[in-house]
This record gives sequence, structure tokens and C-alpha cells, in this order.
Amino acid sequence: MSSFSPAERSVALDQALAAETGAYAARNPRSAAALATACAALPGGNTRSVLFHPPFPLSMARGEGCRLWDEDGHVYLDALGEFTAGLYGHSHPVIREAITQALDGGINLSSHTAREGLLAREIQRRFPAMELLRFTNSGTEANLLAIATAKAHTGRERVLVFRGAYHGGVLSFGGGGSPMNVPHAWLLARYNDLASAQALVAEHGAQLAAIVVEPMLGSGGCIPGEPAFLHGLRALATQCGALLILDEVMTSRLSYGGRQALLGLRPDLTTAGKYLGGGLSFGVFGGRAEVMAGFDPRRADAWAHAGTFNNNVLTLAAGHAGLSRVLDAGALQALNARGDALRERLNQVLQQQGVAMQYTGLGSLMSLHATAAPVQSPEDLAGTDARAKDLLFFALLARGVFTARRGMIALSLPFDEAECEALTQAFEDAVRAHRAVLPARG
Ligand SMILES: Cc1ncc(COP(=O)(O)O)c(C=O)c1O
Repeated sequence: MSSFSPAERSVALDQALAAETGAYAARNPRSAAALATACAALPGGNTRSVLFHPPFPLSMARGEGCRLWDEDGHVYLDALGEFTAGLYGHSHPVIREAITQALDGGINLSSHTAREGLLAREIQRRFPAMELLRFTNSGTEANLLAIATAKAHTGRERVLVFRGAYHGGVLSFGGGGSPMNVPHAWLLARYNDLASAQALVAEHGAQLAAIVVEPMLGSGGCIPGEPAFLHGLRALATQCGALLILDEVMTSRLSYGGRQALLGLRPDLTTAGKYLGGGLSFGVFGGRAEVMAGFDPRRADAWAHAGTFNNNVLTLAAGHAGLSRVLDAGALQALNARGDALRERLNQVLQQQGVAMQYTGLGSLMSLHATAAPVQSPEDLAGTDARAKDLLFFALLARGVFTARRGMIALSLPFDEAECEALTQAFEDAVRAHRAVLPARG
């Protein structure tokens, strides 16, 4: 290991990062130009915050299977899988055929079609807690609707969420919240800390409409919820008459029935989206029949839930084809087993190189952290050095591996053993090249 003092290592880390980003900028002039053009009409050239990073993000030209090509012609292993929505890869023949067939029948038909019932039945089969469900255009919208449903059903105002959670663009609790958030009466507890939720429920339980929780913090760093914590929230919600909303937008892929099936946990409402729409825009919320029946338009007092594209035919066709013809329980199990094995190998690399970093996660989802200490909540990441993750992000790009800048990996079906091996090799090479400036094990 290096003989750097901490101060020297910090300077050397800055220098290594500057060298990686300088080489990146030199390699990618067309991506830089694409951003410059977009800047004329989009603030910072960006319309999706998570994708931006300095000096400029890559502009991708096309994808195929689990590979991506950028505007400058470099090819990458796509280890990000569109933040979990790209589970089928870029060109699955079954999904493509379903979309083409749907296109031939006309884009959006101004009416009910048989397709929404078909996709709904497929989703219900997997997630029996969704006794009745409705579609939206995104996971954000699904959570907005689920929370609105809980408030309408209970007649209560408050909503308990967790610091570091991400439930959508206007439901974001990283760093404790965002001025962009919808103005609900939020209560914020610490993730994986049942006592902190209990304390809030003891004080506010009578006004609580919902407890909203991800069974694993996804954007917050792939931090799994402890089973006792999640079951404890179930009991708390029941005890105070609030609805438990389980946000499975990312975790629904962890088994045929999502993480709720793995845990034997039955929420009142579930939200999901991402790959369930076959890779096109999608969201879904559903749960207990007596709650969701409030949307039945045959009722005089029905709640309204509109949305021009709630039943758009391309998403419904792609989603149904994927679930009914591709993504059976075996395929999901193999994908998640591959992810578990990959995470273990990447962590072995870090240990063997004496680097105090780790991947956390479950199955096919994982995220990198610049600490070797246990990570149970985002608070455990305070003070970790984001530059170490940045350095490995750029070092992986230089070696043809595309991950999220924040360190997230989400495997897709075509990302097979050979791709896991190639990723591991690239990671080992990147870590070896930079180990002297990365956080060292004590
Ligand atoms: C757990 C979770 N909930 C909700 C969302 C929002 O979904 P969408 O981006 O489709 O609006 C995300 C997106 O990453 C998510 O990870």
C-alpha cells in the first residue's frame, strides 16, 4: 500500500481524478458538442438531473443487447441498465416484436383496449398484494397517486418517509428533502432504525395517512432494509391505522414477487414501474381491494385518476410481452444470482487490493461506497469521499464499462457470465491503477 499521508493522498486523489477526467474530455469531443448544443434550450443541456456530471456526460448514440455506443464511437458494457428499467437489454426480440405489432395497430386508440387488463393480470399474478391496481406513466406518478390514495382513504394528512429515500422527482429525501418536493406534511425517520419511526408514530400516529418505504434504498445507495425493520413498519402502520406503501419501483425485480415475496411482507399499497413496462415509460400502484375500489368509476363517489398515456398501447404491449413470454421466475432468479456473485467478486477485488470501499445491494442491484464500514442508512455515508467513486467511475469508462456516476450497477438479462467476468477484470485493473490514492483499509 502507499506511503502517502492522508493529506498527500488527498492531493494525489485530486491529481488522479484530474488526469482521468482530462483524458475523458479529450476522448469524447462529440459528447461535449452535443451538450453544448443542448445548452441553448435546456438548462445545462440537461432534462434528467441524475445523468449530468462534470465535465459533461456521455451522449449515447445507440444500444444493442447490453452494449452502448457513444457519439464518438466508443463501445461500453452497459452495467447500468437504465437504472433498472432496462432489464431486458436494448433489443430483446420479443419486446421489439410486441412493439412493432402494437405500432401496426395504431398508436393510442382513445379508448379502453384489451391490453390493459392483460398486463394488469400479469402484474397481479406476481404481486398478489396488488389485489387491484392502476397504471401511471412513471414511478414518480405511481408514488404520488399511492400517497394521495392513502390520504383520501384515511382522511389523514401526515406521511412518514425515510431520510435518503427516493420515491420520484418530487418525492426525493436525499439530504433530508428538496424544495422541488410536493408539499405533504412529511415526517422523516432514519432508515433501518425502527425506534426512530416508532417515536414519530407515537407522537403523530393519529394523523398518519401512510408510511412509505423502499425495501432497499435504491438511489440512496442500494442499502437493503433489514427484515425486522420492514416488518416492524408493517406492524406500526397497522397499529396506528396508516397504510404501508412499499415502493418496489427498483426492488420488484429481486424475485418473481419482488422483495415483498422474499420477506413475506404484505403492504397495503405497492408501487412499481421501470422494467414492468418492457423498457418504455411506466408506473403502477395497487393494493388492498377495498382501498383501490375507491377508483371504481361506477361508484358515484369515485376518486378520479386521469392520464392520457396511462394505457398507452406501446407500453402495455411491451410490458405484457416481457412478463408473459420472457421474465419467468427462473430468469429472474438467474439474473439475481449473477448479481450476488458479481458483487461478491467486486468486493473481493477491493479487499485484496487493500481498498476501504465496498458494494452494497441485493441480487442484480448494487452500489459502490467509499467506506468498508457497515452501511445501514445514508447517515453512515456521511464524510465518505465521493472523489474515490468518481475516480473509479471514470477509470471504468476508460476501460469500456458504463455504470452510474454514483456507483450504481443494475444487471440486465443479456449481461451474462462473460460480461460479469469482463466487468470484474476492468474493475480490478482500475482499482490496481489507483489503489495508492483510494481510501486504504486500516
Ligand atoms: C424507488 C424508486 N421510486 C420511484 C422512482 C421514480 O420512478 P420514475 O423515474 O419512473 O419516475 C424511482 C426511480 O429511480 C425509484 O428508484
